[in-house]
Amino acid sequence: MAKPTSPLPLVVLISGSGSNLQAIIDACASGQINAEVRAVICNRPDAYGLERARNAGITTQLVNHRDFSDRRSFDIELERLIDSYHPGLVVLAGFMRILTPEFVNRYMGRLINIHPSLLPNFQGLHTHQRAIDAGAKEHGVSVHFVTPELDGGPVIIRAVVPILDGDDAEALAQRVLTQEHIIYPKAVGWYAEGRLSLKEGQTLLDG
Ligand code: GAR
Repeated sequence: MAKPTSPLPLVVLISGSGSNLQAIIDACASGQINAEVRAVICNRPDAYGLERARNAGITTQLVNHRDFSDRRSFDIELERLIDSYHPGLVVLAGFMRILTPEFVNRYMGRLINIHPSLLPNFQGLHTHQRAIDAGAKEHGVSVHFVTPELDGGPVIIRAVVPILDGDDAEALAQRVLTQEHIIYPKAVGWYAEGRLSLKEGQTLLDG
């Protein structure tokens, strides 16, 4: 397959600090990956990630989930906005809303997420504390294709982080976050190079 030359258009969805968004913006700007963030969509008006996007000159859209009576109507508005930017890849970067199956099916194969655990371990919330409480020796982060099963889609790349004596959830989260900022741009870069796909429920890298 010929390598695509124009940058892959991305739409990034965030809810919070946006440090993963920043890592992707930086990787695009430095030429590490052949992609371009066309828009950042956020569901929280106070999210610091909105400022990061604005500082980088990227269009932002706020879709406050509180303004919608149910999940589906919120997702329909997200879909309308996302589609208006014609993304090749939709990137969930700390987007803390559960998406409807209709939304996921619409973008499946071009919708990825980062989750702070070694999936399939510790799906859901409070992963760092749960890993410590479980007495795990290792923890980490996974990038995966999104499927209708919450945090259940096929993994693309993971990074392992040791759990050290005396770690609390915050210290562990910081160490995991450092790895997040390495592996998320890497996964986006693979996709942009046409090396990564979802086929029959499995991740394919270079076939
Ligand atoms: C990251 O740790 C990400 O893995 C996590 O939210 C944080 C967002 O940080 N995502 C989830 O928990 C998704 N279930 P950021 O806003 O600084 O990128």
